[in-house]
Amino acid sequence: MKIGVLTGGGDCPGLNAVIRAVVKGATLRYGWEILGIEGGFSGLRVPPHVRVLTPQSVRGILPMGGTILGTTSGNHMITKNRSAEGEDHNPSDEVVEQVKLLGLSGLIAIGGDGTLRVGQYLFERGVPVIGVPKTIDNDIYETDSTFGFHTAVNTATEALDKLHTTAESHRRVIVVEVMGRYAGWIALEAGLAGGADVILIPEIPFQMDVVCKKIMDRYQKGAGFSIVVVAEGAIPVGGEMSVLKRSEDGYVLRLGGMGHKVGQEIADRTQVDVRVTVLGHVQRGGSPVPFDRNLATRFGTAACDLVAAGEFGKMVCLKGGRIESVSLKEATRGLKLIPPDSEEVRSAETLGISFGR
Ligand code: F6P
Repeated sequence: MKIGVLTGGGDCPGLNAVIRAVVKGATLRYGWEILGIEGGFSGLRVPPHVRVLTPQSVRGILPMGGTILGTTSGNHMITKNRSAEGEDHNPSDEVVEQVKLLGLSGLIAIGGDGTLRVGQYLFERGVPVIGVPKTIDNDIYETDSTFGFHTAVNTATEALDKLHTTAESHRRVIVVEVMGRYAGWIALEAGLAGGADVILIPEIPFQMDVVCKKIMDRYQKGAGFSIVVVAEGAIPVGGEMSVLKRSEDGYVLRLGGMGHKVGQEIADRTQVDVRVTVLGHVQRGGSPVPFDRNLATRFGTAACDLVAAGEFGKMVCLKGGRIESVSLKEATRGLKLIPPDSEEVRSAETLGISFGR
């Protein structure tokens, strides 16, 4: 039997750990042949970009960031009709065809929301897809955690620890913009772990006067500095996300700028010395922390077990410490957002952290 594995969407610490677990699991436990699909679903268009993976070819990749298979963002594009030489053309037809031509009995797609949606779309068209949830944003439904998230939180927390020293020494406000498009999990968890004073997340629209009052209160009480963590997707009350680029159909391609907007407002309203740091893709890089390596490994072997059981159209997931599975349809019905009155948010507010509300 032959199966394929691909990585789609943004890279993320732990992708290589999943690839390694899939290859070793499929080879050592089941004796299958594995084809690595290069560049996400696009690697299954004509001509296909694939290569055979063996336990030897994945040796040493467990601690490596990125993905040895390469990846492409915008996988949703393959589900769209495009005009080629005057004719309507659906690129996913090529993918469906290539899966048959290559003789794949299973296709393990490792990716975030977009990749998993494409997986569900292809599954409905007869492709034997199994999904593995990845994203540093931790916003996939039906799984307690995605791999990559803990590494990103670690990176952001280390940055906050380092920025604290400058903030305190210079009596400054330091605004730190972290990733988090629609869900503020990195901002919340790194903010808590890094002792932030203000955390702004997409799920709780913020008011600048509340943020500035918190900062001035701290100065008046003698704490002459503040750390403000801003998720890139944070939204002011009555305002909008800070979008850098949209596609023609309105899909948000790139966010950015909210950290600088918040920093400028604080400077204008309080006259305090403000600096802004945007962590950006630093959060997506580096070696996965042990939690992410192990979650990725368990997801990879569980994905092989689902292929062996013929349970296609499913996604592996973590529930209460156990690896389980759920239908891709269920997993892609929305995003896992932070409930504004969750225990974690309330705990932060008890400590005096402001969410700007
Ligand atoms: O989805 C993960 C993510 O890190 C988002 O938080 C961020 O908006 C996006 O990727 C950035 O993607 P790109 O690498 O395409 O700019």
